[in-house]
Amino acid sequence: MTRVPSPRWLRRPHDDPTPRFAYGADYNPEQWPREVWPEDIRLMREAGVNIVSLAIFSWARIQPAPDTWDFGWLDEIMDLLHEGGIAVDLATATASPPPWLTTLHPEILPVTASGETVWPGARQHWRPTSPVFRTHALRLVEKMAERYGNHPALTAWHISNELGCHNIYDYSDDAARAFRTWLSDRYGSVETLNHAWGTAFWSQRYTEWDQILPPRLAASHPNPTQQLDFKRFSSDALKDYLRAERDLLYRLTPDTPVTTNFMVMGETKGMHYADWAREVDFVSNDHYTLPGPQRLDELSFSANLTGSIAGGHPWFLMEHSTSAVNWQPVNLAKREHDLSRDSLLHVAHGADAVCFFQWRQSAAGAEKYHSAMVPHAGEDSEVFRSVAALGALLGELSEVVGSTGRPARAAVLFDWESWWASEQDSHPTSLLRYRQEALDWYSAFLALGVRADVVHTGASLDGYDLVVAPVLHVVPRDLAKELTGYVEGGGHLVTTYFSGVVDENDHAWLGGYPGALRELLGIRVEEFGPLLDGRDVALDNGATGTLWTDRITVTDDAVEVLASYRTGDQAGRPAITRRPVGAGSAAYVSTRLGAEGIRGVLDRLLAGAGVTSELPGAARGRVELVVRGDGDTTYWFLVNRTDEPVELTGVTGTLLGGTAGSERRGTDGPDPAGPLVLGPRGVAVVRR
Ligand code: GLA
Ligand code: GLA
Ligand code: GLA
Repeated sequence: MTRVPSPRWLRRPHDDPTPRFAYGADYNPEQWPREVWPEDIRLMREAGVNIVSLAIFSWARIQPAPDTWDFGWLDEIMDLLHEGGIAVDLATATASPPPWLTTLHPEILPVTASGETVWPGARQHWRPTSPVFRTHALRLVEKMAERYGNHPALTAWHISNELGCHNIYDYSDDAARAFRTWLSDRYGSVETLNHAWGTAFWSQRYTEWDQILPPRLAASHPNPTQQLDFKRFSSDALKDYLRAERDLLYRLTPDTPVTTNFMVMGETKGMHYADWAREVDFVSNDHYTLPGPQRLDELSFSANLTGSIAGGHPWFLMEHSTSAVNWQPVNLAKREHDLSRDSLLHVAHGADAVCFFQWRQSAAGAEKYHSAMVPHAGEDSEVFRSVAALGALLGELSEVVGSTGRPARAAVLFDWESWWASEQDSHPTSLLRYRQEALDWYSAFLALGVRADVVHTGASLDGYDLVVAPVLHVVPRDLAKELTGYVEGGGHLVTTYFSGVVDENDHAWLGGYPGALRELLGIRVEEFGPLLDGRDVALDNGATGTLWTDRITVTDDAVEVLASYRTGDQAGRPAITRRPVGAGSAAYVSTRLGAEGIRGVLDRLLAGAGVTSELPGAARGRVELVVRGDGDTTYWFLVNRTDEPVELTGVTGTLLGGTAGSERRGTDGPDPAGPLVLGPRGVAVVRR
């Protein structure tokens, strides 16, 4: 069952018939004197900006008191932008409630697990389930829709901002009430809930709904199913809020598409975006890179997953940074060419819009050291020149707009429920990181030069020859059936430690691990063998394992042992196994190998599945290939992952465009079959 949001893209306010990339930023004109606005628009035009997201944090300015509305300034800037040919993705402005509202109604403020109030003073200080907040927010949405629904600059609605960034978990009494309603919808009766939560344990049996609470600070580990359900509920509660704003907008302005900016990035995990994606007309994402050796891999992974939750349709990169952010422990400036490479890697993975936070770098406030399209230094700056160059390049690449992603033959399966459940407390180890394991597999694909899609559970696995499902911890009966069917149909499945262990209620499958996947894998584990931090074990294929081991017994004669433990408690026992099943297979990796260690195993598994790299040998690992396009025309995005120029031979096709330093060579000038050179950290787009 693929979840495909309806592909309703931006309304074209300027009747421009040529598809082009949306290019722009969050724009916060209320932070600047009126004289700066025309200057902003002049510079936007110079940079090729054609869209801005407006009024995201403008609630206090628009509604300075309960019954006072000030739209004059917003009317003016909307008109100015329209005259400048710039479309507006208009926020509903509900992200940050003004001080008068929190003073009048402190009961909208979130409460932490230990009962502390989250005070105003920053932003997003509201309870997702507060009826009072919702009344005030929807009143604002209504005013915005009535005022600007027919404005010619309006191209889409931007609901709130990064829903859940700071307020996903609220333990207030409002949350408690809404949680009970959610639970009674899920379970129907307290008795069913008692069974699902395993409340025979520690005398937790409930007799009335009113006795049930969010997992507030408790004397010891709160009930794990209660914790898991609270995660599910919290994601659903904000989704419900999203729908409330959206439905009002649909009623008042049915022709204007609606989006909200997701945060598919890093460890942001509270919002089940694969589920939320069905609620918007097009998926938007915010992404910020994290320093370290997997910086670019993580960007690619996130963009790839965003494309998957968008159902293969083009999506909107709503925010990323031109250079440094302000919220990491140390905020690194981007190096030369990072700005364009980062942007184009999102485009490669299906973004038809490239936007930044933000247009003009703030002079005051918590984000004054966060980069922008126009930095503190002004237009005479490297950043602004790079921004303008990217705007021009996106113009050259216009024909790519609207093309869908070209599925790879391999996939990494990503599962929100397993992410949530596998990292809960009172487990064999507290060191397990779900997304890191998935990212390590993805890095290994990149190192081998083999394209892999990152797909979420629920999406179809048809067409994939090899699927890696790292730490697939939660495996309900249906998922086990689906995976068995996939393998019996000739697919090659790879899974890892701590997979198949529990059902949807977080109850252990009995009879030995990996529980629901035991028979498919042809192995049995009686006890887990987690490793202390800093400890490792050697495998006989030269790899090193950390974090985890399993005491594996092979239960099916057909199982091949691909590697065994050489040291540690499991020395001599299998570490990596593979069970052939007809034309398919099911493999198990029982330890954490890290990106490098995975590479060798993955190489072998890919060979078994008949999946090969599409890149010339010398480019593998140094270049990421991403393919867009359907029908006869495809676009190859070739992304140089290194700081040196890379030359590719045998990649034919027309060079549509590329970053500085990327070119076709030939004996007598550029030759479509000649060597293709990618500049350092450069990107080339080839039509084939
Ligand atoms: C998020 C928010 C923006 C801004 C940036 C800073 O993406 O949506 O308002 O705070 O982070 O990185
Ligand atoms: C204590 C408690 C038991 C159990 C064990 C687990 O001894 O009394 O109920 O929780 O710890 O180690
Ligand atoms: C969002 C927020 C930032 C920061 C990052 C961390 O982008 O807006 O302020 O908290 O998340 O991922």
